[in-house]
Order: sequence, then C-alpha cells, then structure tokens
Amino acid sequence: MSGPDGLPTTHERMSGKPWDASYGDGPAPWDIGEPQPAVARLVLQHTFVAPVLDAGCGTGENALCIASEGSSVLGVDVAKTALAMAREKAEQRGIEAEFALADALHLERLNRRFRTVLDCGLFHSFDADERVRYVSSLASVVDPGGTLHLLCFSDRGSDLGPHPIGLEALRAPFDATGGWSVVSVEPERLQTRFHDQDGAPAWLARVDRKG
Ligand SMILES: C[S@@+](CC[C@H](N)C(=O)[O-])C[C@H]1O[C@@H](n2cnc3c(N)ncnc32)[C@H](O)[C@@H]1O
Repeated sequence: MSGPDGLPTTHERMSGKPWDASYGDGPAPWDIGEPQPAVARLVLQHTFVAPVLDAGCGTGENALCIASEGSSVLGVDVAKTALAMAREKAEQRGIEAEFALADALHLERLNRRFRTVLDCGLFHSFDADERVRYVSSLASVVDPGGTLHLLCFSDRGSDLGPHPIGLEALRAPFDATGGWSVVSVEPERLQTRFHDQDGAPAWLARVDRKG
C-alpha cells in the first residue's frame, strides 16, 4: 500500500485503504485545520528542543506550529498528498519547515538525529507488535537525553477515539525496547472532526531517551 516498503500497516489492513487515500476527498477525520491544543500549549511552554521530528505529520499543522517558534522541524509521513499539503501551507505562511516521505517504522533510513519527537495520532494507529518496532525505530534517531511527546487516544471516559490505548499498552513498547523512561502520562483531549468541541479522551506522555 502506501508505505515506502509497500507493506500495509494494521490500520491500512483494517481500513482496506492506504493512508494517502484519507487525504484525497476533503479533510481527514483528524485533520482539524489547526494544531492540536495540547501541542500548541507545549509550544508556548518552549518544550520542543531542536532539531524536532514530527512522526506521522499529516498536513503539517503541528509541525508548522513548532517551526513558527523558529525551531528546525522535519515532518515525515507515508502519505504523499498530506506532505504536498503541508509544504504548500509552509510556503503560504512563510514558515520554514521540511516535510519528507518516510516510514516511521524505519527512521534509521533518514540518517538524522533529533532532540525532540512529536507523535500526534500515529502511535495509536499501530498494533502492539508495530509499536515495538516503532519505538526501536525512534531509538535510532533520538539522542540520549532526547524526548518524545506522545499524544494518543486513551481508553478512559466516554466517546472514545477509534484506537483507545490503555496505560499498560502505552508503556509496554518502551519497557520492551529498553533505553526509555516514561516520565509522565497525563489525561488530555484530542480534537477530531467527529467529536464535539471537547474532543476525545487522550493521553499526553513524555518519554525520555536515557543518557
Ligand atoms: C491520525 S493521522 C495524524 C496526522 C497528524 N499528526 C495530525 O495530528 O493531524 C496519522 C498519520 O500518520 C501517517 N502514518 C501512518 N503510518 C505511518 C508510517 N509508518 N510512517 C509515517 N507516517 C505514517 C498517516 O499517513 C497519517 O498522516
């Protein structure tokens, strides 16, 4: 399907279509046309230390919000259509940010290093085995002392998102891979186009790469 490897991920097998198809017919369900409030808050708190990687960046609202602070940001995605939209927004807004076609399960192929990674909505789309591969892939590009900020649907509350993640499932791939410390996991909200203005229950986790 859409991945550079040509191998469909769980989400693609379940939905029966490549990720890129989500961007061809109006805004995707998660594409709210602005940064997630939780991400905008982290930006205001100057949380993102450059260089920053936005893994599964979609049409780039979060990456552009981070880059607007002057940080160097690379957004990667397997959806070419989303990347084209992200590049167009960057040009229109006069924001310098880089967007590249890359598989988050093979980040070592980038040959790049990052101090901070944002994952907004990618982790929860992988199954348990893919999450372990993903965390290993992240380890190949995150420097010791670097940080991952992870925003994913949670399994607590009502009107849950489509891939609710429990606390144990969130921690498991980091424990399995080793070399990571889950520093905090806070209840958050994730906005979508199919929830009301309160969004869906989510977790905002901070995970540090051990030095
Ligand atoms: C739920 S969307 C979130 C998009 C964006 N982060 C946002 O908040 O709007 C998940 C994104 O991850 C991308 N994606 C899925 N599997 C991927 C992979 N293996 N490598 C890179 N990107 C991937 C999809 O194409 C999609 O754009």
